Amino acid sequence: MTTSDDAHHRAPAAAYAAAAEAAGRAPSIHNTQPWHWQVHPDRLDLFADTSRGLPGTDPDQRMLLVSCGAALHHAQVALHAQGYEVAVRPLPDPAHPEHLATLAVDGTTPVTADAVRLVQAIQLRHTDRRPNVDVPVTGEQLEELRRVAGAVGVELHRLTADQATELAVAVSHAEDAAAGEPSWQAETARWTGPDRAEGTGLPPEVIPDKRPETDVGERFFGSHGTLEVGGGHDKASTYVVLFGAEDDRAAWLRAGQALSAVWLHATLQGLAVLPYSQVIEIDATRAMMRRILSNLGYAYVVLRLGVADPDHPLPGHTPRLSFDETTTVDPAS
Ligand SMILES: Cc1cc2nc3c(=O)[nH]c(=O)nc-3n(C[C@H](O)[C@H](O)[C@H](O)COP(=O)(O)O)c2cc1C
Repeated sequence: MTTSDDAHHRAPAAAYAAAAEAAGRAPSIHNTQPWHWQVHPDRLDLFADTSRGLPGTDPDQRMLLVSCGAALHHAQVALHAQGYEVAVRPLPDPAHPEHLATLAVDGTTPVTADAVRLVQAIQLRHTDRRPNVDVPVTGEQLEELRRVAGAVGVELHRLTADQATELAVAVSHAEDAAAGEPSWQAETARWTGPDRAEGTGLPPEVIPDKRPETDVGERFFGSHGTLEVGGGHDKASTYVVLFGAEDDRAAWLRAGQALSAVWLHATLQGLAVLPYSQVIEIDATRAMMRRILSNLGYAYVVLRLGVADPDHPLPGHTPRLSFDETTTVDPAS
């Protein structure tokens, strides 16, 4: 029997579809967008689409799960901004590990200005690989980012200057390892080169035109792009690690939710964000990151935070797959 309360709490399928559409803007490793959504009358299901996985560089699907977790959080933000409370069941079916989450509306909530700002941040958020200017991230900004990561069960640690130097060493090791592995290079080229599939990957406009001057070297995508990075040296950035006590699929999904929460709030704070995941992808450097955390937890992803040069807006954005390419709508919806 359907009570009037149930009817009141049930989101129209259109709200789930709008959430899946907003989630399409989520960040993902190499812009692979490795997710598939199913819109049902009573729920929204998130699946991993391993056909857009990275079997060479991401054999355990860590970064795939982190990327899908970011999309999941984007969908939560979108439903919240439409006035819905949402219950999330992560990994609801052990027999189907590719079924990553089920979202179902379980109440209504007044639409606040903060919720609207957060959903608007989805459209503004982007990866910024240009050196940041000499404006430090403030303690209050970091405190807010720590709080929003903590709200989904993930810790945020700001690296000390010494730890940032250790990070630079780890990144350099990871980059050397990647450069020496032809299959990894081929995989990177597939997502960043001219043969990348339409609507995915990194276009030249978001890849630096030369190695940016920065204390911690950036990921090299195998060739230079057209993004002008100028001559400035990035030395005021803050480096943070998202980490936690577990290192399994559920934890990586949570890490992605935290990544999205931190990134959207950082966007509203006017901060530029650049993930560093090569140090997590490679076993030896992942162990180095764990040592940097004094073995207190497992590192999920490293982020550079800073203030972008306000006089030079980013010239281009990454593309996205269309709604139909990532979403199936149950005809009963
Ligand atoms: C899990 C994850 C790992 C990432 N790792 C890196 C990285 O190591 N280096 C980098 O330059 N960008 C990295 N990115 C950023 C993606 O390339 C970026 O999100 C994607 O290309 C979409 O672009 P956008 O963020 O500007 O929308 C990562 C993103 C995610 C979600």
